[in-house]
Amino acid sequence: MNIGPMRELGGVFDRVADAYDAGRPSYPDEMYRAVCELTGVELDGAMTVDVGAGTGILTRALRARGSQVIAVDPGAGMLARLLARAGGGGQPPLAAVQGDGNALPVADGVADLVTYGQSWHWLDPAASIAEARRVLRPRGAIVGCWNLHHAAQARWLADYEARLAEEVPAYWGPAVEEWAVPPIAAAFEVIEERWIPWTRLVGIEDFLLDLRSHSYMAALSPEAADALVERQRAELRREFPEGLLSVPMRVYLAVGR
Ligand SMILES: C[S@@+](CC[C@H](N)C(=O)[O-])C[C@H]1O[C@@H](n2cnc3c(N)ncnc32)[C@H](O)[C@@H]1O
Repeated sequence: MNIGPMRELGGVFDRVADAYDAGRPSYPDEMYRAVCELTGVELDGAMTVDVGAGTGILTRALRARGSQVIAVDPGAGMLARLLARAGGGGQPPLAAVQGDGNALPVADGVADLVTYGQSWHWLDPAASIAEARRVLRPRGAIVGCWNLHHAAQARWLADYEARLAEEVPAYWGPAVEEWAVPPIAAAFEVIEERWIPWTRLVGIEDFLLDLRSHSYMAALSPEAADALVERQRAELRREFPEGLLSVPMRVYLAVGR
């Protein structure tokens, strides 16, 4: 395997892998029910290729529901955490492979599902879908999902996002007027889309770890990132002295067959 380019691809998230692992939320149960309903694939007994698996947030949930998983990611640091948290006996088989979603290191026609948990926007839109089709069995399906802040549902969250938009040059999110979900729907022939609302109860410190795990934060100098987190912490503590946040979230789920 050509490790040089893999290191480059994986580099952004490897720098924030600890924060990613500790701070990012998992997906709500309802999303997995919707995946089964929309794809017609039962997770129990399925074979899933999880592309851009990262530290394994989606991989772990798929295995807990009975799916074997081949987890693919260019980031060695992210995959190391995925393996460390994989758990042991009684679970379906897991393979973790350092690789590129645009050239999957997976044989033709082996998968019931190819999943992209917050990752498809990092890939080439045409090459990645061609690769997903290649590794899928005839009745298999492609699943893209993104766990997003629903900023329009809470003033404090809209203000938090607005502060990020002002202060972080690479910020891309709901406070940017032209922000939109990645155009995965346009890349499929047959597509079903669903928005799944849910609420995340989280302490301020874990919420700030989540902030640190975003690629736009990894692009800042450590000093600038620390200063920004400190300003957000002060604001959130002022608004929520008890230290607990109720964060309106929504998952954007897109399924192609
Ligand atoms: C935002 S994380 C998503 C992690 C996880 N799937 C989740 O649900 O939280 C995006 C992941 O995509 C990976 N990635 C970036 N470029 C990629 C590529 N060309 N092929 C596969 N994965 C890639 C990154 O290394 C990172 O782990």
